[in-house]
Amino acid sequence: MSDRLYIFDTTLRDGEQVPGCQLNTIEKIQVARQLEALGVDVIEAGFPISSPGDFNSVIEISKAVTWPTICALTRAVTKDIDVAAEALAYAKHKRIHTGIGTSDSHIRYKFNSNREEIIERAVAAVKYAKRYVEDVEFYAEDAGRTDNEYLARVIDAVVKAGATVCNIPDTTGYCLPEEFGNKIKYLMEHVDGLSAGKAILSTHCHNDLGMATANTMAGIINGARQAEVTINGIGERAGNTSLEEVAMILKCHRGIGIDTNINTQKIYPTSRLVSSLMNMPVQPNKAIVGRNAFAHSSGIHQDGVLKNVQTYEIMDPKDVGIDDNSIVLTARSGRAALKHRLSVLGVELDGEALDKTYEAFLRLADQKKEINDDDILMLAGADRTASHAIKLDYLQVTTGMGVRSVACIGLDITGEKFEASASGNGPVDAAIKALKRIINRQMTLKEFTIQAISKGSDDVGKVHMQVEYDGRVYYGFGANTDIVTASVEAYIDCINKFKK
Ligand code: KIV
Ligand code: ZN
Repeated sequence: MSDRLYIFDTTLRDGEQVPGCQLNTIEKIQVARQLEALGVDVIEAGFPISSPGDFNSVIEISKAVTWPTICALTRAVTKDIDVAAEALAYAKHKRIHTGIGTSDSHIRYKFNSNREEIIERAVAAVKYAKRYVEDVEFYAEDAGRTDNEYLARVIDAVVKAGATVCNIPDTTGYCLPEEFGNKIKYLMEHVDGLSAGKAILSTHCHNDLGMATANTMAGIINGARQAEVTINGIGERAGNTSLEEVAMILKCHRGIGIDTNINTQKIYPTSRLVSSLMNMPVQPNKAIVGRNAFAHSSGIHQDGVLKNVQTYEIMDPKDVGIDDNSIVLTARSGRAALKHRLSVLGVELDGEALDKTYEAFLRLADQKKEINDDDILMLAGADRTASHAIKLDYLQVTTGMGVRSVACIGLDITGEKFEASASGNGPVDAAIKALKRIINRQMTLKEFTIQAISKGSDDVGKVHMQVEYDGRVYYGFGANTDIVTASVEAYIDCINKFKK
């Protein structure tokens, strides 16, 4: 009989912490509903004390989903725990995730404390959280670099205090797979409450050295029964372990004998939805969900795959929800086809919102032959800019080889019209210079990424930008079949986010 691995998704907490990936509450609900459909066991919905936005999102996500446990993060601080408990009021199944750093460097430099005092604070936090909820998860931050013997004492103490899950994060992504696997094994062998089934161990691995999934698997093989993961592996710095990798490894390697509740056919649509809402492109060669993950380009591979797919494919793309026949819509596709495709991608639209998106879809279909999932998600999210104070009215650019580019731009700023023109060493430079004549502020373009256009010269170009203003960096996104317009839209998106 196989064992069960619980999937704890932290896309909406650890993933959402990434600069530029912030979602509003409506978008978070969309992701949470899709995670529920995907079959995750626990959704970490936020860190309620950190901001009113996070507090509110935990409340709204709790109302919106039914089956998964909703988890809220706290430090080992009573006020954090009070606020988390309040935010979880509407959750049908609730969990408080509290914890403290346990490595020597955290104890000394972060807490200016000592090992015994940290155990006392950990136990007090778990006991305090238990006043509110039965299900309490404890995290030993930087457990990856915590001495195993001391870590076992911490885990033993918190299990005795009532923790139901003990999270062993490799916070810095430092561990080697064998080292991390041995850590889990050591805890399983030295903490009585774990072998007695009073609590389970959880992995939470970061990918700084590209070993997050390998470490997670080593943890699972050695006894962890919960894995903390994110969609597309998004997360701080190099990211977290990706959900799709763990789910598909366990599906492909049946010999490990561990199952999850993940409906793998929902993996690809979930990946697209998260990438689109967070404006975070997926690298083309990303395992399972990258655009090239199932593309065989070498002649030898193509020949083999045509003879029998098993020669070079270890998974059927359909098993992760990639179905070539269903992902292309054209100008002849009706409203129902669009609605259906959006629903597969986790976006439910009806009435006026559907009508608006369908109109935009028809306009885009006039400009490009085939509309793919990314385009559809972009269109569905287009009204995210509707509330912006500054909008692009028009843009005209003259450019060419051997001449300076000239741009004329029109902006609508809360209903008032402004125009300016400028020349530059290229069309984007000219357009941004013209824009800056209207928006006269000290701002600097720090990063400018044009996402690769996958199919044809008529494809929608996506631009990600970072603009520094008043000591802060703002992230913007633009998408258009015209790449210069997409660039200006991304710049305007940044400006609309300026705090003052
Ligand atoms: O990486 C980490 O240690 C964390 C904890 C807060 C769980 O995200
Ligand atoms: Zn983390």
